[in-house]
Amino acid sequence: MHAIGRRPLTVLTITDVDADRRAVDRAGAMLRAGRLVALPTETVYGLGANAYDDEAVRRIFLAKGRPADNPLIVHLAAADHLDRVAATISPLARSLAARFWPGPLTIVVDAAPGLPDVTIGGLTTVAVRVPAHPVARAVIAAAGVPVAAPSANRSGRPSPTTADHVAADLAEHVDLLIDGGPTGLGVESTVVDARTEHPVIYREGALTREQLGFAVTGDATRAPSPGTRYRHYAPTCEVEIVEPEHLAARAIALQAEGLRAGTVAPSQLHTPGAVPIARFGDVDELARDLYRALRDAESADIDVLLCTAVPETGVGRAVMDRLRRAAAR
Ligand code: TXA
Ligand code: MG
Repeated sequence: MHAIGRRPLTVLTITDVDADRRAVDRAGAMLRAGRLVALPTETVYGLGANAYDDEAVRRIFLAKGRPADNPLIVHLAAADHLDRVAATISPLARSLAARFWPGPLTIVVDAAPGLPDVTIGGLTTVAVRVPAHPVARAVIAAAGVPVAAPSANRSGRPSPTTADHVAADLAEHVDLLIDGGPTGLGVESTVVDARTEHPVIYREGALTREQLGFAVTGDATRAPSPGTRYRHYAPTCEVEIVEPEHLAARAIALQAEGLRAGTVAPSQLHTPGAVPIARFGDVDELARDLYRALRDAESADIDVLLCTAVPETGVGRAVMDRLRRAAAR
């Protein structure tokens, strides 16, 4: 079968980085050589390229349809590689890195002078993290270069939490897709500016304010990451946030209008007349399943996806942030 203009997608499954050493080395060599490699992290799948290769990074922006002023997160294999991408490292950045890396925390620092403009979106700062996923870390270590990697979705689409999601959005653009199974956390990393002694949360994420605790002082003000200016996480169906006690009535009202309703709701809630897209026991489970649910609602031809609101504590903050963006019209 030949599809003109469409390259076949190479997928490698890596479950054990020691057993699959050759696949890890191949992925690393491709990254070093300027190819695009999609890879699993503990949060969501990323679309990786050598952060120091302008041409490769430019291809990431093209593949995603991403605005050029939205900088990428640079991923390292180890915390002591931070000086490869940072010009100066504040004591706060150092202590956050020591405490939370590897893990779902992205730290904004002053960028090293040699980092290409395209990688950092024309800013003087760079967002950096060391992922906790063993496959991501092994591949980045094998590459031997810092790896710029946004979430591996088309710009504005829900982030990918499986290799299938990546293939659905970006098959023609990816040189290699590493399938490491579904991601564990399901929402992106928390982005914190750590250039001064006053940390600022730029994006709520998988590492909670409660976990950051000691570091985020009471006077931490909110400032958005460039990416938070854009509409995000949007499936093609409508998304509505509802309080759990209003779910059943809302589903019936939609049905009466001839609309097909879907639900993302606690397992114990049953909503006659609506298609259950995701049921969750707790907010961690909701975080893990949220993006999959948004994509599944499309496949199930849902007109309106009713998502129950959750308390804004712990990872509930990131979940509600993503739901509001998905619901924005
Ligand atoms: O969990 C994650 O963070 C995933 C995985 C793949 O690591 N990556 C991810 O990347 O979510 P992306 O590109 O989808 O989101 C990066 C966010 C954007 O909102 C961007 O604006 C912000 O980080 N960002 C990047 N560099 C920044 C900087 N120098 N200052 C402030 N925000 C920055
Ligand atoms: Mg993204």
